[in-house]
Amino acid sequence: MVRKAWTLAMTVLLVVSLLVAACGPTEEPTAAPAPTAAEPVAGELEIFSWWTAGGEADGLNAMYGIYSGLYPDVEIINATVAGGAGSQAKAVLATRMQANDPPDSFQVHAGHELIDSWVVADKMEPVTFIFEENDWLDAYPPGVIDILSYDGEIWSVPVNIHRSNVLWYNKGVFADNGLEAPGTFEEFFAVAEALQGAGVTPLALGDNGIWTSVHLFESVLLGVMGPEAYGGLWTGETDWSGAEVTEALETFAQMMDYVNEDHAALSWDQAAQLVADGDAAMTIMGDWAEGYFKSIGLTPDVEFGYVPSPGTAGTFIMLSDSFGLPKGAPHRDNGVAWLEVCGSKDGQDAFNPLKGSIPARTDGDRSLYDVYLQSAMDDFASNAIAASLAHGAAASEGWVTAVSDAMTLFVSDLDVASAQATMAQACVDAGVCP
Ligand code: GAL
Repeated sequence: MVRKAWTLAMTVLLVVSLLVAACGPTEEPTAAPAPTAAEPVAGELEIFSWWTAGGEADGLNAMYGIYSGLYPDVEIINATVAGGAGSQAKAVLATRMQANDPPDSFQVHAGHELIDSWVVADKMEPVTFIFEENDWLDAYPPGVIDILSYDGEIWSVPVNIHRSNVLWYNKGVFADNGLEAPGTFEEFFAVAEALQGAGVTPLALGDNGIWTSVHLFESVLLGVMGPEAYGGLWTGETDWSGAEVTEALETFAQMMDYVNEDHAALSWDQAAQLVADGDAAMTIMGDWAEGYFKSIGLTPDVEFGYVPSPGTAGTFIMLSDSFGLPKGAPHRDNGVAWLEVCGSKDGQDAFNPLKGSIPARTDGDRSLYDVYLQSAMDDFASNAIAASLAHGAAASEGWVTAVSDAMTLFVSDLDVASAQATMAQACVDAGVCP
């Protein structure tokens, strides 16, 4: 089933990788030293990530538990920098990498973030040998291997597949107000109006890191224009100056009438907490929100419900968290052993049920996953697949930053024409639009 989804996804993802190849510098990474298998016995293992919130931290700790069981003499250093989507961590990592002070392994999104930021900059060791030694080449869908690959090598080990375009809602609030989860924008605004009238904040947003607004915007873009045109935004085939982008910005601006006033002061998980508490009814967030809800004791389909964000039923905006092996990792063997845990079936089946994601491998044990995650597995296997902008899959870091800067202005001035002009220019600056 998952393989079928990846066959469908291949077109989108192949375009992504072709784009990577087309946009990358001409200089190629130098050959890495001959790889050796991991033989960790002692010392430290420093893992760098931004997983500090409930669900995220729980999943990471589950993988640490497996590692410590296998290598009890290795001391794990959990180097986290809080801030969803790596909004703070990525800059800290860049500084460390520039100073030749890498951790033993770090979290990185599959796709442009991995390849453009680190691989073409010659900062990573290929990890193809880990896939070969562990017989993993057939354990992952070809489309996943493809977005981790560059210049004939695989460059990181994926731990999961996340879905970005999910609307989470408080079932009690909806029931009390006699409402049904919205499927279209029209239904969304009708529900939002009713909730506002009842004194409940319709939509929770926590954009103290602007990435959450970019995240919301990618769902709105998809909802307005559909998967084909959305995919074309990242290849230059869809016009950023066109009517559909205008409509998406207008729709986003209209949504801002229904968000909590303190959105700029809150994080994504604080916004999710508003929904959990019934102070807000809905939030549009990736399925790490599911991990968060479960970490505070809520049960999917009981206290909270989920539907594709408005207008996006039938499409799965995907992203994948992975771990890589930086050149000069101080405890390289321990790092390789970490990657072996990340890529193993046991590692993924321990991590993902807590994290709120599905395994990147094709052989995850479905019985370990809750009702939401099973539905995500089914949707991933049957939906059209689109790549996330906010989480490194669709576009280079520079392009994401340019869109984020535009969103920072847009959420305060709601100037559609200005935001659209800046975004159109960002596509040109990225070398994708003429
Ligand atoms: C994403 C990441 C997820 C989750 C989320 C919020 O970028 O892929 O794993 O951590 O940020 O922090």
